[in-house]
Amino acid sequence: AAIAQRPTVIWLHFAECTGCTEAFLRTINPSIEQVIFDTINLAFHDTLMMASGKRAEEALESAIAKYKGSYILVVEGGIPTKDDGIYLRIGANAETGLHRLKRISKDAKYILNFGTCSSFGGVQAAYPNPTGAKGVHDILGCEVVNVSGCPPNAVNMIGTVVHILLFDRVPPLDLSYRPIWAYGGRIHDNCERRAHFDAGEFVQEWGDEGAKKGWCLYKMGCKGPLTYNNCPRYRFNQGTNWPVGAGHGCIGCSEPDFWDTMAPFEEP
Ligand code: SF4
Ligand code: SF4
Ligand code: F3S
Repeated sequence: AAIAQRPTVIWLHFAECTGCTEAFLRTINPSIEQVIFDTINLAFHDTLMMASGKRAEEALESAIAKYKGSYILVVEGGIPTKDDGIYLRIGANAETGLHRLKRISKDAKYILNFGTCSSFGGVQAAYPNPTGAKGVHDILGCEVVNVSGCPPNAVNMIGTVVHILLFDRVPPLDLSYRPIWAYGGRIHDNCERRAHFDAGEFVQEWGDEGAKKGWCLYKMGCKGPLTYNNCPRYRFNQGTNWPVGAGHGCIGCSEPDFWDTMAPFEEP
């Protein structure tokens, strides 16, 4: 049944690839239609809304004014901070992303960072990080929920929203502000190839016999032993598969700074 008073969500894009939105759209239970028509009032979302340009900006400003203090702000994308944020400008007034984040987060009740970009800066923050891209918590220092992953699973995004709707508080978080229910388990401990790791059966070369038999990808650079996420359990694309299941090692995409700390992603 529809929730009588659907909570308002304002979703902002900054420096990113929109992959998190794509992942969000692939939710199956509930469906995306149930989410946006029955559960939340998605007042602003660049990619999904009909309006564009001036009309879209007006919708954003009126939602901020109308739902001041009660809206959930979803952030997708890292925020360039160098030189006062001039490397990202948005809207007719060419407002910097940095200014926009500070202005709109001020009146939000909850701030949810969907994806590793808004959680920790994202690939654009990779060394030498020419635009000074940062995650939201590094800029604002206030309470946030980091639903990290590049992209995160729709289960993790929707589950976090549902927790807030049900309990009116953020779920228990780990030291990187990630919900423990989603990021409390290590990839390596839930991986379907783990028995091969324990038996010392490793893929040694792409396409070798071990690869055909689904052996462990550790020697091909898999970062599953260092990564906390629930990908093996929920999989992506409506439960179809996940990186290790598809034959590539985990690259640690839900970990802070994975773009620098987990490289190289493949062993030669
Ligand atoms: Fe794209 Fe990854 Fe950033 Fe999401 S976290 S917007 S998938 S680069
Ligand atoms: Fe661990 Fe990766 Fe091997 Fe799976 S494939 S058992 S996550 S090292
Ligand atoms: Fe990312 Fe590793 Fe899962 S690369 S999608 S955390 S398997």
